[in-house]
Amino acid sequence: MTAIILFDSLLGYMLDKLKALKKEIEKAADKAKDISGLEQLEIEYLGRKGKLTALLKDLSSLSKDVRPKAGAMANQIKQESLKLFELKKGELGGAVFESLADKEREDVTEPGIRPPQGHLHIMTQAIREITEIFNKIGFVRARYPEVDWDWYAFESLNMPPDHPARDEWETFFMDAPTSKKGKMVLTPHTSNAQVRELERGEFPVRMINIAKCYRRQSDITHVPMFHQFEGLYVDKDVSISHLRGTLDYFAKAFFGPDRAIRLRPHHFRFTEPSFEIDISCGVCGGTGVAADKTKCRVCKQGWLELGGAGMVHPNVLKAGKVDPKKYSGFAFGWGLERTYMMKEGMKIDDIRILYKNDMRFLKQF
Ligand code: DAH
Repeated sequence: MTAIILFDSLLGYMLDKLKALKKEIEKAADKAKDISGLEQLEIEYLGRKGKLTALLKDLSSLSKDVRPKAGAMANQIKQESLKLFELKKGELGGAVFESLADKEREDVTEPGIRPPQGHLHIMTQAIREITEIFNKIGFVRARYPEVDWDWYAFESLNMPPDHPARDEWETFFMDAPTSKKGKMVLTPHTSNAQVRELERGEFPVRMINIAKCYRRQSDITHVPMFHQFEGLYVDKDVSISHLRGTLDYFAKAFFGPDRAIRLRPHHFRFTEPSFEIDISCGVCGGTGVAADKTKCRVCKQGWLELGGAGMVHPNVLKAGKVDPKKYSGFAFGWGLERTYMMKEGMKIDDIRILYKNDMRFLKQF
């Protein structure tokens, strides 16, 4: 600047510089593509370390009488540039909104996106189906505790505490105080409902109890928590043919009209006589021979084992305060998972898959 002071028309020089700067600002503002670019320019030209501010500093080298003129011009340029930037921001902002409006435009007539909808777990579906089948012949679903006294789970069912048959049940005992009714257990079968139902004293008894059961076992055919469905029918003159007819009806309704059941003698403490119930194999039609004349791979001999049944033992009736001379009845108790897996077309080779929460499996039902 010292060199410039030597010039006569220092004021003229300053004014030219200011005018040139104004032009530069206008050009730059014109080229700006977006709001942040404009803000950048504002800093570059009008900011504290900006080009206009630098020029203003140079004004101090002018003589006092001309300084205000140059000052006024610099100020005017500053105000005009600010206005210009605002104007430009408005224009660019408008363009931003326009393109946003274009991009984010909603077509309210477009069909919506359906949220994924779940469905009931297959075991819940099976519970409902079985309940409905039994409802049709007058059996009503009952609800009894799934943590119950030893008395209901075993003793009232003609199984005294030290009876070796109890070992088969692999029971979970609760860490809880013992009462007159013994220890508390996680129900190892649904048979605990039998004496509880009899205690109600309403006849005929036509109960279907579907509930959770617990046993210490886990392998391809067992899970520690599973379900059973237990039927109990008690009235005057109930015979084995009633039992047979009921189970046959169920097998045909649940598995299909071509399936049949058979009773095989067995032993349970709470029924006399007792049976294992088998169902004819859905793959070979009960013949045990596959289409290619080889042994059926599913059943090997034509029948599949479903579960236990029998005529209610007089001691069980007595435990439920029912006179065995007046009343008789039948009972059956089957595994829900096991029964469901015997449906035709089901190819579940590991029962544990039912409770793994694997969506690839669950979605198929
Ligand atoms: N409670 C037996 C079990 O878990 C099954 C059973 C067999 C239930 C015979 C019955 C029955 O009601 O009559 O193995």
